[in-house]
Amino acid sequence: MALMTWTDKYATGIASIDNQHKKLIEMLNNLQDAMLAGQGNEAIAKILDGLVQYTVTHFAHEEKLFATHGYAEAASHKAEHDKLAKQVLEFQAQIKAGKTKLSAAVMNFLRDWLNNHILGTDKKYAPFLKGKGAV
Ligand SMILES: [Fe+2]
Ligand SMILES: [Fe+2]
Repeated sequence: MALMTWTDKYATGIASIDNQHKKLIEMLNNLQDAMLAGQGNEAIAKILDGLVQYTVTHFAHEEKLFATHGYAEAASHKAEHDKLAKQVLEFQAQIKAGKTKLSAAVMNFLRDWLNNHILGTDKKYAPFLKGKGAV
């Protein structure tokens, strides 16, 4: 069973954002599949690298839209991005050093973060950015 499934409740109505969120969900599911298949840290680290890079790209895309359109809550939103990025980079370093393994607890943390961030924080900018014509 997939860790996380896209449904319309996640939709912001901004196509570029929704497509990136779908991709992030897909990548999280791929990471979970690799863990459940018992893949080693090296393979996990590779998949995690892809997820980290795509996450950073996605955060930058949102933040660029905030800057372009003058979104008032940009700073607090970016702080959430930065905190997560820091946590994931630290975890990634531990995986690479063989100090820890990917676990269900970590997967659930990532899923809950993405779920709560999209529904709580990303959804807040949707009406504003849509009003500015962001696509
Ligand atoms: Fe997002
Ligand atoms: Fe965000």
